[in-house]
Amino acid sequence: MDSAAAKATGSTPALLEVRDLKKYFPVRKGLLNRHVADVKALDGVSFDLGAKETLGVVGESGCGKTTLGRTILRLIEPTAGSARFEGRDIFQLNRKSLRDLRSEIQIIFQDPYSSLNPRQTIGNIIGDALELHGLVTGDARFERAKELLERVGLQGSYINRYPHEFSGGQRQRIGIARAVALKPKFIVCDEAVSALDVSVQAQVLNLLEDLQRELELSYIFIAHDLAVVRHIADRVAVMYLGRIVELSTCDDLFEQPLHPYTQALLSAIPQPDPSRSKERILLSGDVPSPMSPPAGCHFHNRCPLAMERCRQEAPELVELRTGHQAACHLYDDEPHPVESIRIGRRTPQHRPSAFQTDDTMTIDTEESEAPFEDDLFEDDLEMFDGSAEGDPLPLEIPKVLDGHPGMALGPFGEIIDPQDTYSEYSDAPPLQAITGVCPDDGYVTAADETIADQPSAMAAEEEADTEEEPAPRDDDTLDIPTLEEDS
Ligand SMILES: Nc1ncnc2c1ncn2[C@@H]1O[C@H](COP(=O)(O)OP(=O)(O)OP(=O)(O)O)[C@@H](O)[C@H]1O
Ligand code: SF4
Ligand SMILES: [Mg+2]
Repeated sequence: MDSAAAKATGSTPALLEVRDLKKYFPVRKGLLNRHVADVKALDGVSFDLGAKETLGVVGESGCGKTTLGRTILRLIEPTAGSARFEGRDIFQLNRKSLRDLRSEIQIIFQDPYSSLNPRQTIGNIIGDALELHGLVTGDARFERAKELLERVGLQGSYINRYPHEFSGGQRQRIGIARAVALKPKFIVCDEAVSALDVSVQAQVLNLLEDLQRELELSYIFIAHDLAVVRHIADRVAVMYLGRIVELSTCDDLFEQPLHPYTQALLSAIPQPDPSRSKERILLSGDVPSPMSPPAGCHFHNRCPLAMERCRQEAPELVELRTGHQAACHLYDDEPHPVESIRIGRRTPQHRPSAFQTDDTMTIDTEESEAPFEDDLFEDDLEMFDGSAEGDPLPLEIPKVLDGHPGMALGPFGEIIDPQDTYSEYSDAPPLQAITGVCPDDGYVTAADETIADQPSAMAAEEEADTEEEPAPRDDDTLDIPTLEEDS
């Protein structure tokens, strides 16, 4: 087994095993759609997730958190690696099996408004998912939708309302109701509370925890707010440029971080107790481009402790203390513990009670928006088509949304724009390549040949407009990580 992989111990088998997961988005150029480079959004990620466990995923903007969640759900096709859910490799499933699996694995999106179909009532939004998976039909689906709304703290009578009639927090509750409607075992929460006011955040987090206990759910909880992650996660993975650099039980990570990057992130957290405050570690240099990450340790150009070896050799993620892995050459000579890493829930006495909002510690993602190097591939960025060369077609392609030409519903009922080549659906074919609609579920089918031969609409537009420059990068804004104090 890959030494970077987390090892489940006897009594707690992993629900999800991810191994050496890679996702490279090809960067293409010119009329011939020449493949000139890859954005290495995931560059060999391995971990286990236990049943009823919450794995927090943190890291600066662009480090690959969303790509990780969506690739595991197969909203994006992987470049390499495997993700086994209860022993089944998600990446090997055929269309039918993948659809069946989608009742067991779900997602809660950051933006609850744009992920709910504005033309459907709440009853239909939740009821459609139930009917599609054959759980209930007819009027029974509305009864079930009512029950689910009540379970997430909303009135059952709201089933006849439309998404715009709700507040942000209420809409996120609806998103949660939709996600749990099919009784899943595993949910990816991608910045699920980030768009909410702090007090509403606390309510939604507490709801997620209640549902986890009640329905025995596992979460991958992606967030840039370290306070939120510290509260909800059993273990935490810290990502940097497409790799996990540290993976640990939550308490150990926050108390004794091992990786210099994690140490720098945590050193910027304001401490409520001044006697425990640590000197802030300021990192120099910019976050490198994920198109050309540095050789060896990706972090070496910013690491205050970098050695010669770090420039040559990528450190492996190894267990340095029980339950605590890090990828850093500083520990090469240290003996490793004999005991294997444990996955699963934190013990009850270590779990905090209801979420409090006093100590917010946020990775400032605003400042790290532009991950590209100006001097590299400047011309090549003129077209940034996410379609992956040689990738198989996605097995489930968005459903065309009635009355909204160009808009579609994703496999989790969310609104998407398949023409947006910079979206998570960039692997989907352009709508004009669609050859038919599946009579069972309304999802569209497309012919491989058509897609392979046809440059996307976005590609054609980009080609025509050669004057258009890529989004400008402001070098001054790349001095990260900084942690935002949110008083
Ligand atoms: N469809 C796509 N086509 C090309 N590149 C992409 C695509 N989606 C993401 N990327 C790139 O992959 C890298 C990882 O992006 P991702 O959205 O996973 O980061 P993230 O950690 O979720 O960031 P944030 O905190 O801002 O949400 C980034 O460099 C991003 O620009
Ligand atoms: S491997 Fe080297 S460069 Fe990377 S974090 Fe460790 S000390 Fe720093
Ligand atoms: Mg993201």
